[in-house]
Formats: sequence, C-alpha cells, structure tokens
Amino acid sequence: MSILRVKSVEQSIRDTEDPEHKLNKNLTWVELTTFGIGVVIGAGIFTMTGRVAHSMTGPSIIISFLVAAVACGLAAMCYAEFASTVPVAGSAYTFSYASMGEIFAWIIGWDLFLELFLASSVVAQGWSAYCTVLLGELGIHLPPEIVSGGRVDLLAMGIIVVLGLLLLGGIKESMRVNTALVALKLFVVLFVIFAGIGYVRAANFHPFIPAKAPTESSAAGLTQPLLQWFTGSQPTAFGASGIVAGAALVFFAYIGFDVVATTAEEAKNPKRDIPLGILGSLVICTILYIAISLVLIGMVPYTQLDPSASLAKAFTMVGKPWMAVIISAGAVAGLTTVVLTMMVGATRVIFAMSRDHLLPPALSKISHRTRVPYVITIVVMVADGLAAALVPPGILDEMVNIGTLLAFVMVSIGIIVLRRKRPDLPRAFRVPLVPLIPILSALICFYLMLNLSVETWMRFLIWMALGLVIYFVYSKKHSRLNGGEELTQDIDTQMAGVVEDSTKD
Ligand code: ALA
Repeated sequence: MSILRVKSVEQSIRDTEDPEHKLNKNLTWVELTTFGIGVVIGAGIFTMTGRVAHSMTGPSIIISFLVAAVACGLAAMCYAEFASTVPVAGSAYTFSYASMGEIFAWIIGWDLFLELFLASSVVAQGWSAYCTVLLGELGIHLPPEIVSGGRVDLLAMGIIVVLGLLLLGGIKESMRVNTALVALKLFVVLFVIFAGIGYVRAANFHPFIPAKAPTESSAAGLTQPLLQWFTGSQPTAFGASGIVAGAALVFFAYIGFDVVATTAEEAKNPKRDIPLGILGSLVICTILYIAISLVLIGMVPYTQLDPSASLAKAFTMVGKPWMAVIISAGAVAGLTTVVLTMMVGATRVIFAMSRDHLLPPALSKISHRTRVPYVITIVVMVADGLAAALVPPGILDEMVNIGTLLAFVMVSIGIIVLRRKRPDLPRAFRVPLVPLIPILSALICFYLMLNLSVETWMRFLIWMALGLVIYFVYSKKHSRLNGGEELTQDIDTQMAGVVEDSTKD
C-alpha cells in the first residue's frame, strides 16, 4: 500500500547531501547539550512546580518529578538510538518514515509541528508574564491591554519576532546567543538552590504524601482527564494518585530534550553527539529539578506556595525580595531560550517534510548566504507571533503535552520495528533490553496521555483529522516516493533553480 511506503535510511541520509537542502554541520556535543538544557528548563520549573505541589502533590512532587523522569528517560533512549542511526533533520518524523511508513511519518510530523509550534507560543506568553512582573518591579508599567492576559499580547509577539529575525541570521549565531542565555539561566537555577538551602525547614516536608482529598476546583465535563471521564470516578488530589497526576503535569518541565534530535543533521559527529546531547541534558535537568523542588518545598509550606511565580515568591516570603528580582530576570532569560529552541525545532520538522514533498517544496528553500531555511522560518515566526498574541494564555498548554507524548509512543514503537526490518544498520547507541524498554516507554507515555483533559483530546483529534485531509488531498500525490521519474525530474528542476539562484547572487 502506498501510504505504508518507507523512505530508506540510506535515501534519508543521501537527501542531506542535496546542495539545495544542505544544512551546515557545525554543532558539537557541548552545544547540543546546552541546546537541550536551553529548551528543557523553562516554564515547567519556574511556574509549574509551585502550582502542582500546592494543589496536587504536596512535598511528594519530588516523586512526581522522578516518575516523569523515568518516562522521559525510557523515551530518550529510543530517541538516542534513532538519532544515532538516522542522523537527519526532522527527528521522530524521519524515524517513523524509515520504520513504519509514510502515513505514520505524516501523522507524527504533523503532530510534532503542533507540539513545537504551540510550545513556542505558549512559552512566549509565559515570558511575557514574567517580563511584565520584572518591568513592574523596575517601575515600568505597560498598558494592560498589550501585555500578558490583555487583549493582544504584544510582548509575547515581540519576543517571537526578535527571535525569528535572529534565526534568519544563521543557526551558529543563534546558538551563540542561546549559550549565553542558558548560562544565565543555569546561574539563576543554582542561585535558587544555594541561596534557598539555608531557609529549608524539615517540618515543611511533613506530611510527605498528604492524604487524598477532593480537588480544589473540581474538574468536570470537558476539563476532566479522559481516564476519569471514562471511569466516572471522582477527581481527587494528593495521595498516591496525586503523585501520578502530578507526574503527568510536571512532564511538561521535561519536554524539549527530544528537540535535540531535530538538529541531528547540523551536528559535527551526529552518531556520538546526538545521544550525548539528548541523554546529557535530560540527566542534568532531572538533578536540577529534584534539587529545586527540595529547596522550594523546604522553604515554604506547600499550602502557602504561590501557584504562578512560585520560585521568586518563595524568596519574598522568607524576606529576601531582591533575590526575587534576580530570579524573575533569570526566568525572562530562561524562557527566551525555550522559545528560540522550540522555533528551531518547528522549522526543522517542516523543513524535512517539505524536502520530501509531503508539503510544498518551496517551504524548505535555503538561503545561499546563511544556509537557513528562510521561508519556513518566516512562516513559523508569523504564525507563532499571531498565536501568542491572540490566543488567551492557558488554553493550549496541554496540547503541547499530548503532541509530545504521541511522538514518544511512536518513536518507542519505531525502535522495535526498525530493529526487525533493518538489523544490519550500524547503531552507535543501542537501547538495552529491546523490546521490553520501548514497550514500557510506549505504555507509560500512553497512560500519561489518558490523564489529559477531554477537551484537549477533542482539539487534538480535530488537528489530526485536518492533517489527514491534507495528506490524502496533497501529500500522498506529491510525495517524492511517488515514483522515480518524478523524483529525477524534480531534482533536475531543483538543480536548475540552484544554478539560476547562484547567478542572481
Ligand atoms: N520544558 C519546557 C518548559 O518547561 C517546555 O518550559
């Protein structure tokens, strides 16, 4: 069946050599790990930790972070094996094309685009919220209609446009700015840990797992988790089930290590550097998250934690407001790198799909001067900016989670499929205990998906249905796997384009 045709690993790698679509290969493992940390540490730790501890887990949020880390760790190993076998831009999309076939690749590409595109908008909105607080502390008050929570969030749109222009300047340059901001963010995270440790009180860890209780704002109807909706059970918080629900929420804080795989094609030595980048950033972030949540819980009783800017407010509560200003500034810097990296990821997924002609090839055009896929970068910048400015905050967050989790499920299954279909391929990194680990990874991620709300599932299914319509109307027909003749003709046309463009330059 043509919808199940696979694009061979060899073909994927050959495509990266096509001069019209060749990206620069100059990222090292240090830059990739920095890139990973840059995208992982963000709104999750700066805002969500306090909210989840306050309303869902109490001090046992530490266990939630560990549970989420295990789920991500299993999936991260699968990502690392794939990226070391198929070092091509597009991450899970490319992996599915090589293992499960075109229709699955399309589904995952369309899904990944949703994750990355919405994540950059959502985090830009969080950036705008922190920036508003910081400006307020510095005595600068912008009109409420144009900041976070206002009618049009121009601050959020502004950061996206600035970062989009930066990306158009070239990936190496963007990475330099990213590295500087990540360093600043790490400083603030370590500052919270070391400055806060002196205020930790053992009494705040009791009870470590608070007794089960009905949720504060009892989620009902479309806002309740799909699993509860199915079973008709009463929504509760705390206790053992609170820890699992908390894990599904703080999962957000880990999202992003998978984005390292989207830049596989731009790594100097992808087979070694990409697994190091993925696993390294995940390990570092897990250690930092556990340390931060230990300090935060120890500083302030969980019942008094601020549900939005919890890290900064904890220092105000222990009588150190100047430290809160430093932390707010760190959050602004920290969230900037998340937005930037998510935007890079979104452009690279579309780049890979368009290079395969599942989307119009014009989208993957590369600038001869900067080697940046400029058309798609501009499209992402405009769409992201509009979503960040116009969609009220808090609406799209769970969509990011569901999109990511589906990608994790498919990548995990893909590992088993590719091991069966292509045992011969060299794999610089191998997941241990296949198929046990990939199966476990897929099951845990699917279970977390079931803990997301009914309305998130509905929005997600509409997005996926739209994707399938595009696939059957456009992509299936135009796919480069649609026939050798068309492919040859295409490459000729592209080459003619390069010659024409270069004479213009
Ligand atoms: N992990 C990213 C964050 O927490 C998405 O902002």
